[in-house]
Amino acid sequence: MPKQRMRPGRTEVFDPIETASRDEIEALQFHRMKRTLRHVYENAPFHRKRFDEAGVHPEDLKSLKDLSKFPFTTKTDLRDTYPFGMFAVPREELVRIHGSSGTTGKPIIVGYTKHDIDVWANVVARAIRAAGGHRGDLVHVAYGYGLFTGGLGAHYGAERLGCTVVPISGGMTERQVTLMQDFKPRIIMVTPSYMLSILDEFRRQGLDPRECSLELGIFGAEPWTNAMREEIEQAFDMDAVDIYGLSEIMGPGVASECVETKDGLHIWEDHFYPEIVDPETGEVLPDGELGELVFTTLTKEGIPMIRYRTRDLTRLLPGTARSMRRMEKVTGRSDDMIILRGVNVFPTQIEEQILKCAGLTPHFQVELVRKGRMDDMVVHVEAAANAASAEARAASAKELAHHIKSVVGVSTKIVVADPDSVQRSEGKAKRVVDNRPKE
Ligand code: DLL
Repeated sequence: MPKQRMRPGRTEVFDPIETASRDEIEALQFHRMKRTLRHVYENAPFHRKRFDEAGVHPEDLKSLKDLSKFPFTTKTDLRDTYPFGMFAVPREELVRIHGSSGTTGKPIIVGYTKHDIDVWANVVARAIRAAGGHRGDLVHVAYGYGLFTGGLGAHYGAERLGCTVVPISGGMTERQVTLMQDFKPRIIMVTPSYMLSILDEFRRQGLDPRECSLELGIFGAEPWTNAMREEIEQAFDMDAVDIYGLSEIMGPGVASECVETKDGLHIWEDHFYPEIVDPETGEVLPDGELGELVFTTLTKEGIPMIRYRTRDLTRLLPGTARSMRRMEKVTGRSDDMIILRGVNVFPTQIEEQILKCAGLTPHFQVELVRKGRMDDMVVHVEAAANAASAEARAASAKELAHHIKSVVGVSTKIVVADPDSVQRSEGKAKRVVDNRPKE
């Protein structure tokens, strides 16, 4: 029996601006963009220097398009000014610090004023509402709490909407499942890869995940495919929607999907102004074209960002369930792109092919190795419990190699490991392991 659930034709908005006219949205964006440029010019020496070097002044902004005259900001700028060098208010005015660990070296650090936290809670409340959440829902937050923005970002948004929040954080999966059985959350907010670990745990405990109380999952913090959406929705008999964000801009809730359309993520454009640029030249591309997503914050006080290069690859699309523009599901970061014998490969492309093979689980890791002068890719993936015999594994490996070759265009070695042997994620999954010798 499928779960009984509320299925509104269209989710209600949390803020009226979500469905305002484009003219209204753009007028507001222009006003706020100008104010932000003035704010950083007057209060953040880093930006004043950058603007002066580029020969631009906030008064040069005569229309939204003029933003392209202003210089970009990058992760390197945040690293170079670590920890507090890009703030536009005295440190004492910040009520919270967050950070992103990244892969190497020191974290990048961001800070929020009281007003920033308020805006953030609001956009996450919008996101939960767009996902089909309501006041009074019980929300299980399994994003990590700490310097990572996932846990606390989701938490404040859920509280703002009037939900009851369970701040469980990541890890201790057995206890997660026990508390879900006891508290009966309607909503879970977690990375999609950790949701798969939770799924395994349900099965390990002999529970039918389709019988659990969850009706809605709000998944993000890492790339995931529509094939993975299907997998999770089927396994739990629930709706799965995407939420996007990054610490440098705010945290979760920069953009999110509406449950009734599930057609990409509406960017909360009254707070975050998006551009798509050519990753090589930096030239602004028209809506609809694939490129690197760049954000300018429109209301942030603590650490406003001007034309921040996210490295995330996507395209901008017109609004559907909301008037704010959508971004297509992020296929990957330019940093995660593997170039194998001249072919660009993203881990999400591998994920899609794995999910086509009935004999495999969705847990996987891609290993890069070098033989002689040639780079090679080994896909480590797990056999499903009912397809773990030597013959079944060989057949699954052959099937996956064939899909990858014909759809992605590269030959790969496939290792079909024992059930439960590929490392489980408790937050963001590490999809690529580079074992090539360092030059
Ligand atoms: O991951 C914020 C977040 C928390 C978003 C919880 C959603 C849910 P960072 O740790 O700074 O912040 O990592 C940001 O993660 O530039 C993307 O590459 C990736 N990312 C985040 N959300 C998505 C998503 C948080 N929905 C980086 N799809 C971003 C694909 C995502 N990639």
